Amino acid sequence: MNGHPLLEAREVTVRFGGLTAVDAVSAAFAPGELVGIIGPNGAGKTTFFNALSGVIAPTSGELFALDQRLTGAQPHRFAQQGVARTFQTPRVFAELSVAANIGFGLQFAGRKRQASWLLKDETSILSLIGLSAQAALPAAAITPSQQRLLEIGMALATRPRLLLLDEVAAGLTENEVDAMGQLIRRLRDELDLTVIWIEHAVTTLLKYVERVIVLHQGRKIADGTPAEVVRNAEVVEAYLGDEMVEAA
Ligand SMILES: Nc1ncnc2c1ncn2[C@@H]1O[C@H](COP(=O)(O)OP(=O)(O)O)[C@@H](O)[C@H]1O
Ligand SMILES: [Mg+2]
Repeated sequence: MNGHPLLEAREVTVRFGGLTAVDAVSAAFAPGELVGIIGPNGAGKTTFFNALSGVIAPTSGELFALDQRLTGAQPHRFAQQGVARTFQTPRVFAELSVAANIGFGLQFAGRKRQASWLLKDETSILSLIGLSAQAALPAAAITPSQQRLLEIGMALATRPRLLLLDEVAAGLTENEVDAMGQLIRRLRDELDLTVIWIEHAVTTLLKYVERVIVLHQGRKIADGTPAEVVRNAEVVEAYLGDEMVEAA
């Protein structure tokens, strides 16, 4: 990896009482990477994201953004370093319009670095995520898949360098999933973003990412290209089995 990684976790552990949800996971994310994180329910994916975005302080281990040590810092310090995320259950302001939800994200961008023209204002962001026609509707009135897009738009409005996506394709139809995969690639390509994308559905994700990290019972058991990971005996034997091989 050239230069500093955009974000780096070193031996990050998160415990909840006696349960080790994330177990000494190390991973570095370089500028421009599109990385998937997969693993069965309860593997520790969301908890790892919570640590990467400052929502949860690790029990032990270190976090760095570029050359800044962020271990134990509040979420707003992670945001200042350009980290933005979505939540597994979308968090939008139901009674506000779609455009106003984006406006809320833009308020946080403040004096931040020069943004791409694609992130200039509500109109450009709504066009990027494909919700221009819904701009005036209350967020509660759009479909669940549109709410996921809106949450991505709100994260983009903060003009991040690193976008963390937690199961944004869950519950979508096959066509919607493909559109989501293409959108995520486009965001990475055109906005100069680093993207880390959690998905429980393996087949979806492997088509779109260049690198995939596999978590199992809190441990990182694989980190490589999709082709490498699906041939990893521990990954296949542990829990993913044939579904994953077919996907590759
Ligand atoms: N706030 C919490 N308190 C206690 N246990 C938790 C908490 N959050 C997650 N866990 C537990 O940590 C483990 C990992 O959960 P999670 O990170 O949500 O997994 P994933 O996103 O891979 O499904 C699970 O056993 C879950 O029940
Ligand atoms: Mg989760």
